[in-house]
Amino acid sequence: MPPEGDEQTRRKRAAAERAASAVQDGAVVGLGTGSTAECVIQALAERVKEGLRIVGVPTSLRSERLARSLGIPLIDLQDATRIDVTIDGADEVAVGTLDVLKGHGGALLREKLVAVASEREVIVVDDTKLVERLGSRFAVPVEVVPFGWRVPAQALEALGGRVALRSVPPEGEPFVTDNGNYILDVDFGPIANPAALANEIKTITGVIEHGLFIGIAHEVIVAGAQGVEVLT
Ligand code: 5RP
Repeated sequence: MPPEGDEQTRRKRAAAERAASAVQDGAVVGLGTGSTAECVIQALAERVKEGLRIVGVPTSLRSERLARSLGIPLIDLQDATRIDVTIDGADEVAVGTLDVLKGHGGALLREKLVAVASEREVIVVDDTKLVERLGSRFAVPVEVVPFGWRVPAQALEALGGRVALRSVPPEGEPFVTDNGNYILDVDFGPIANPAALANEIKTITGVIEHGLFIGIAHEVIVAGAQGVEVLT
């Protein structure tokens, strides 16, 4: 049975605290997006209050607001000459490869930009996020330009995906990312070759980025019933 409610939150927090405790004084730190990444930001803010000197590079407006409100000094990605480590959450982690599916929080483009600019990408999850194959539980989020979004949607269907334009309840208007784009959630089912699919999606005109993070994560910190484990 997957953990629910308080227990899942406790595990997210345990993974987040482990990752935050490893951040060194003077580090430039990419700040991820989502509920687990927010636990990381809170844990880092506690350390900043105790004297840790870091500079954060946020991956979303939401994380930027939270970090600023908690007193973490921030810079934009274009002003960062280096990022020592980024700590982010994930929707799915493939246990064999550490490939990751992200973007259900809608921040995949900035998350990937900050991740590829980082010396180390550390993913923090509770154990419900571990899968044998990416796509087993979540659709692949694909960020597209709003203009003519049905054109890339058809191309994604031609690749074998079932496409849904992400919308916002209750009115159902399209979800708009921090970059002013739309997200198509594309259900491919369990993906046999995520690297090949990632390359195919990138060639579609109108696609800006997708949520398959292939070969990007250096370390995955997983919290489960037995405690916290580090996968490398
Ligand atoms: C946001 C993301 C998040 O990291 C992902 O959705 C996991 O979120 P949570 O920690 O709330 O489960 O990719 O774009």
